[in-house]
Amino acid sequence: MHYVSFAELAAAVSNAGGLGIISALTQKTPSDLAEEIARCSAMTDKPFGVNLTFLPMLSLPDYPGYINAIIDGGVKIVETAGRNPQEYLPKLQSAGIKIIHKCTSVRHALKAEKIGCDAVSVDGFECGGHPGEDDIPNMILLPRAAEELKIPFVASGGMVDGRSLVAALSLGADGINMGTRFIATKETPVHENVKKAIVDASELDTRLIMRTLRNTERVMNNSAVERILKKEAALGVNLKIENIINEVAGVYPKIMMEGEMDAGAWSCGMVAGLIQDIPTCRELINRIISEAEKIINDRLQRMIS
Ligand SMILES: Cc1cc2nc3c(=O)[nH]c(=O)nc-3n(C[C@H](O)[C@H](O)[C@H](O)COP(=O)(O)O)c2cc1C
Repeated sequence: MHYVSFAELAAAVSNAGGLGIISALTQKTPSDLAEEIARCSAMTDKPFGVNLTFLPMLSLPDYPGYINAIIDGGVKIVETAGRNPQEYLPKLQSAGIKIIHKCTSVRHALKAEKIGCDAVSVDGFECGGHPGEDDIPNMILLPRAAEELKIPFVASGGMVDGRSLVAALSLGADGINMGTRFIATKETPVHENVKKAIVDASELDTRLIMRTLRNTERVMNNSAVERILKKEAALGVNLKIENIINEVAGVYPKIMMEGEMDAGAWSCGMVAGLIQDIPTCRELINRIISEAEKIINDRLQRMIS
């Protein structure tokens, strides 16, 4: 997660039994990423991953440089997202790195399997960030993915507690990926205003922006988002990224670091409506596991007895 997934969060998640992931592009240069990987390695002896996102950007990041930093840093898991990662797979996989590719449709997941990705993360329509353009929620997307895929996959989008874990496993996933839920944890190094905004939000408080640009993003509603939506309604298919650039580009540091909650659009999942506290990552993961065990042993056991 851009300007959220720093070493502090990744290490806390891995130390608590999950797989923490550092956001590569939040680091301005490959050498900054190398430092961030070293910081994370100093905070955990557990495995952690790095996310490499390929989205439409104003200037192309130095992907080969970031990949060298990942390999040299000894990272063994990379989450790719945004577009087909095929051109980068040989270098990453020959360094012994496993690839989890994030997909928002079954056809993209199958393509990822075909090009040799080791696993996929399937993001439903409810997810924070970029849900793609098909609008298929996880209740349908996950069982469809399970019907088609041979490689393992995790359910992403709307995952928050033991109920989501058991549901995701029932629908055929092998685990869950959480974005928005992890922002509202003690260790996440973002401004307290961001965590408070998530805790205060209901499931009605996210919006979809940039639809006509085919770069749809689910974000928390705020005054900047309302401005974007007004421009989108007025310009329709004539909307250009330049029309909304002030609201979407370079806004993350102001929001995440300085807590200026109306500085621009920031990704957030509908799951904000189910987040009411700010636990540590360990408390959160332990709670998810014990809730899941309780659901399986009590509620589901009652069904078959
Ligand atoms: C603030 C924020 C920033 C994100 N940034 C990225 C990103 O840079 N790259 C990426 O692949 N996904 C990004 N995501 C998506 C998450 O990695 C994850 O797929 C998504 O949050 C899952 O949905 P959930 O929020 O309902 O858990 C971001 C999500 C949030 C909430």
